[in-house]
Amino acid sequence: MTCKIVAQTGLAAGLLGILLVGGVASAGDVSRGALLASHCETCHGMGGKGAMPNPAINGMDVADMVDIMKAFASKEESSTMMYRHAQGYTEEELKMMAEYLKGK
Ligand code: HEC
Repeated sequence: MTCKIVAQTGLAAGLLGILLVGGVASAGDVSRGALLASHCETCHGMGGKGAMPNPAINGMDVADMVDIMKAFASKEESSTMMYRHAQGYTEEELKMMAEYLKGK
């Protein structure tokens, strides 16, 4: 009997965990932003805090970040490699990334 109760409690806790994780993921922008920014973190360090020789990109104003990313993508702002890494994002995705990095 005891085993059955323990097993059921474990199952309930597992399901609760899934529900909680699901809830956070569907809250959307923050976790999607984190996922998108994980690509940036490979060069700019965890949380975009900088990893020599790549500059820190955390704490930047969201609008400024979106503007500079568009400028890199269009080559209006010259860069050695950001031109490539600024390609292919929608405005919404750029904002989500910028919001995540701003909070770091
Ligand atoms: C392959 C390495 C690499 C990746 C990946 C990368 N960056 Fe960069 N980033 C650089 C380098 C190097 C610079 C300096 C400009 C240049 O020469 O391209 C830079 C510059 C920047 C700057 C300007 C910072 C300043 O102070 O002038 C911003 C903003 C930026 N990156 C954002 C991002 C974002 C957002 C992503 C993810 C979509 C990203 N970067 C991905 C290497 C990278």
